[in-house]
Amino acid sequence: MTKTLDIVGICGSLRKASLNRAALRLAGELMPPTMKLDIIDWRGVPVFDGDVFAQGLPPAVATLRERLHRADGIVIATPEYNFSVPGGLKNFIDWVSRGDDHPWTGKPVAMLSASGGPLGGARMQYDLRKVMLYLNAAPLVKPEVFIGMAPSKFDAEGRCTDETTKKFVGDQMAAFERWIAANARMRG
Ligand SMILES: Cc1cc2nc3c(=O)[nH]c(=O)nc-3n(C[C@H](O)[C@H](O)[C@H](O)COP(=O)(O)O)c2cc1C
Repeated sequence: MTKTLDIVGICGSLRKASLNRAALRLAGELMPPTMKLDIIDWRGVPVFDGDVFAQGLPPAVATLRERLHRADGIVIATPEYNFSVPGGLKNFIDWVSRGDDHPWTGKPVAMLSASGGPLGGARMQYDLRKVMLYLNAAPLVKPEVFIGMAPSKFDAEGRCTDETTKKFVGDQMAAFERWIAANARMRG
């Protein structure tokens, strides 16, 4: 029997009506049946402070760090803020990057982004990709998913109404399943 892959979803936006959370949910719906998405809540993560870190990880960070460790893969859906990674998300990534045993090492990561503009957060993704590479994560390269003009592609309940977007997201999740398997083979 095939093992169900435990996929953690991280949304870079905290707002309730976030288009990126809608895109993340869509990714969860369109994943192959061997994958199961669990969207985590990182709202309780404080701003990184080296003095606090020196005393030990805050409980919210320790819990999330452990959750990321257990995951077979991570899907990040996030907006672009001022051409880059939203500060809150970067802060969360920074907290869980401390220590030689941090959970990003070798972790398959897929990323997608939705924005009101035409580029769909592309500039941010290359910054996020750079951070993931530094952390020795295993970011999926293709297919890339940039959901531009996103407000016109989701309805008021956050359901995607655009077939092309669904196809891109579904194809990315299928590729992510293969990517996770390929990484597992490489690790032996
Ligand atoms: C601080 C801030 C900076 C933004 N900068 C960009 C940007 O650089 N590029 C872009 O396409 N959209 C930018 N936007 C607009 C977001 O793409 C848009 O608000 C998006 O819907 C936010 O994602 P969400 O719906 O998941 O919350 C910015 C929004 C905020 C709040």
